[in-house]
Amino acid sequence: MELLDKLNWRYAAKAMNGEKVAEDKVERILEAARLAPTSSGLQPFEIFVIKNQEVKEQIRPVAWNQSVITDCSHLLVFAAWDTYTADRINYMFDLTNEIRGFKNEGWENYRQMLLDSYPQKDAEENFNHAAKQAYIAFSQAIAAAAFEEVDSTPIEGFDPEAVDEILGLREKGLRSAVLLPLGYRKESEDWLVNLVKVRKPMKDLVTVID
Ligand SMILES: Cc1cc2nc3c(=O)[nH]c(=O)nc-3n(C[C@H](O)[C@H](O)[C@H](O)COP(=O)(O)O)c2cc1C
Repeated sequence: MELLDKLNWRYAAKAMNGEKVAEDKVERILEAARLAPTSSGLQPFEIFVIKNQEVKEQIRPVAWNQSVITDCSHLLVFAAWDTYTADRINYMFDLTNEIRGFKNEGWENYRQMLLDSYPQKDAEENFNHAAKQAYIAFSQAIAAAAFEEVDSTPIEGFDPEAVDEILGLREKGLRSAVLLPLGYRKESEDWLVNLVKVRKPMKDLVTVID
């Protein structure tokens, strides 16, 4: 199947059948998330992979009781940094220098520019910026799951504070941003599975400026 065929096959599954997704597929989905571009390359988020059924059961009631939370195979929780700190910024710049094996003046000036701005900003503003970056990885994970013919359900319908509490995210300087159950569709209980995909026409989406 071509990529677009797979993206047409994909839909936000409303019911899953509990079947396990093979670990190599999950690894490739996570790798696609890891490869996502982010602002300044900071990757200001972490991904929690919940396989534990009891933890999924704790999350379901604070996620609008959506059945896919417990009937999925792996529940991905995208958790963004609660703010940008000097340590977090330095970690990524140092990692870049280490991996590339050299220091570059322009890059160091850019590091300093970020150090002079982000940590001084309001934590809420920083979290919102970090959460946007998490969504890019989330989107790549959705596409990668489709590529693997694994179903997924993007989920914003949850109480972030309750999920933070269940997973102890605040202590780690993280806040939950968005959830992504991975699994396999249960067609017999899914009202959406046979409905035609609805998207606005290209003309209402795209403006070409020649
Ligand atoms: C950020 C985001 C949050 C969403 N939250 C939920 C959710 O909590 N529950 C749900 O059933 N669907 C959720 N959806 C699914 C959308 O309703 C769905 O993607 C949209 O209607 C398009 O349909 P399709 O994905 O089946 O093509 C969410 C989608 C996105 C991108």
